Amino acid sequence: MAVYNLGSINADLFYRVPHLLAPGETLAATEHSRGLGGKGANMSVAVARAAARVKHVGAVGPDGRWAVERMLEYGVDTRAIIEVSAPTGHAVIMIDDQGENAILIHPGANHALSETDIQQALTDATEADLFLFQNETSCQVIGATQASARGMRVIYAAAPFDAESVKTVMPLLDILVMNAVEAQQLSDATGADLADLPVRDIIVTLGAEGCRWLNTDDGSDQSFPAIPVDPVDTTGAGDTFTGFLVAGLDRGLPMAQAISLGQQAAAIMVTRQGTADVIPDLKDVQDARFG
Ligand code: RIB
Repeated sequence: MAVYNLGSINADLFYRVPHLLAPGETLAATEHSRGLGGKGANMSVAVARAAARVKHVGAVGPDGRWAVERMLEYGVDTRAIIEVSAPTGHAVIMIDDQGENAILIHPGANHALSETDIQQALTDATEADLFLFQNETSCQVIGATQASARGMRVIYAAAPFDAESVKTVMPLLDILVMNAVEAQQLSDATGADLADLPVRDIIVTLGAEGCRWLNTDDGSDQSFPAIPVDPVDTTGAGDTFTGFLVAGLDRGLPMAQAISLGQQAAAIMVTRQGTADVIPDLKDVQDARFG
């Protein structure tokens, strides 16, 4: 079994700031660094670090070969990453002293993927495989449609959130992952309670409050308490949660255990500064000995 992840690849430009910028404000950063990121790349690296097979479906520009090489080093199958003429996507990430962030993304090559690229990438996928996607590339509906037609389990981490995008793909989804604000926005946009949405498994991350899993088939609604940690940087923690969750499911874990694994990895991630380059692996999770 494998995870096919249609997802963004960015150069992440980090700026540590005393506080997040207000409109019209100019501020000097106290630290700066650069790394591999993009919600898609972060999730692929997390899946690989959680010991599952992952094939990344994505695009970079001629300036992005370093990113592909780094993903390969981290254990990601990069054969379905194409090179296009548009520049590689990038993100400007401000992080304040509380570990909160504000992120500006330039999609670049992430928006250059075509239907043919997706079709080629999924050629060898079977119903035993999982299809994961987020909201930072082109061709999400095409990807989800093709994956669903192949009988793959379709998982959408609906970030950055756009209610219309979620509504469009909702009938194709097996699992939907959102945060609490996004879940409320989706309820507002659909006029439906989460439990009435046509997706079997809905996972809502609640930050310091933990996480909630609704199974709309049997009507169950389970809460998972948060693991207490002192965050230094929350960037990429949600991506790490999703990657470990999906890897756990791919390796046959029941949903509750996969969620718990994701929470443990995310708890480590918020204590680290950076994104794909600092995602923990299974050994880090085991060594942390949470609960
Ligand atoms: O979720 C964090 C990610 O969002 C960053 O790596 C950045 O590239 C943006 O895609």
